[in-house]
Amino acid sequence: MTRECADPGEFTGVVALDGPSGTGKSTVARRLAERLGVRYLDTGAMYRAATVAVLRAGIDPTDDDQVAKCVAEIVIEVSTDPRHQRTVLDGLDVTAEIRTPQATAAVSPVSAVAAVRKKLVAQQRELIAGGPIVAEGRDIGSVVWPDAELKVFLTASEQVRAQRRAAERPNRSVTEVAEAIRRRDTFDSSRAISPLRRADGAEVVDTSELDINEVVELLTQRALSVASRG
Ligand code: C5P
Repeated sequence: MTRECADPGEFTGVVALDGPSGTGKSTVARRLAERLGVRYLDTGAMYRAATVAVLRAGIDPTDDDQVAKCVAEIVIEVSTDPRHQRTVLDGLDVTAEIRTPQATAAVSPVSAVAAVRKKLVAQQRELIAGGPIVAEGRDIGSVVWPDAELKVFLTASEQVRAQRRAAERPNRSVTEVAEAIRRRDTFDSSRAISPLRRADGAEVVDTSELDINEVVELLTQRALSVASRG
């Protein structure tokens, strides 16, 4: 029997949701957290905030040393309420700025810097340790929290991912968006540290033929079944 929502306190673990862009990951993660009545962590928002700091400082995002120095000095705060997402950089709300095309274009090289990952992964682990949560990113199940009770790797065909992203950005063609996604995925998958990949034990869910509601439903039932097994 399927159930709409978890009972309060029913799911007490961690869901690690990883995958490339355009799979519906963020929307799915947020809605799943709401259904389970737990917190939500968008680790991509943290790497994006670090990127905004780098761009604001006028640093070349591919200059690893300068990037590392800059990110060592900043304070990033993210809300873990799935209904109110907010990202704060050094006391300043950057919730909108982290989504600009400039930040999106520069985020992959910034997030490939070892010192950046070390700092942000430590902060992510602290946040996750604070209680039940759905955490999404590229390396949650493989590096940040390998002991997650439920690990999922979301995928979708390249074409579907590009179409979904293009629908969110009406001023860009599907071809342009597909190229940008491919560049970012190639960078994220081939970097030396914590590359994007399916974690050991992660269930692969292909969302090409599913709508968001179906994916949320599927994962809610998977999480509740994990919870019932204790
Ligand atoms: O999920 P989102 O598209 O906002 O992530 C932006 C970028 O942040 C990714 O393309 C990737 O370079 C980086 N990222 C990462 N590790 C994570 C989450 C995001 O390297 N756990």
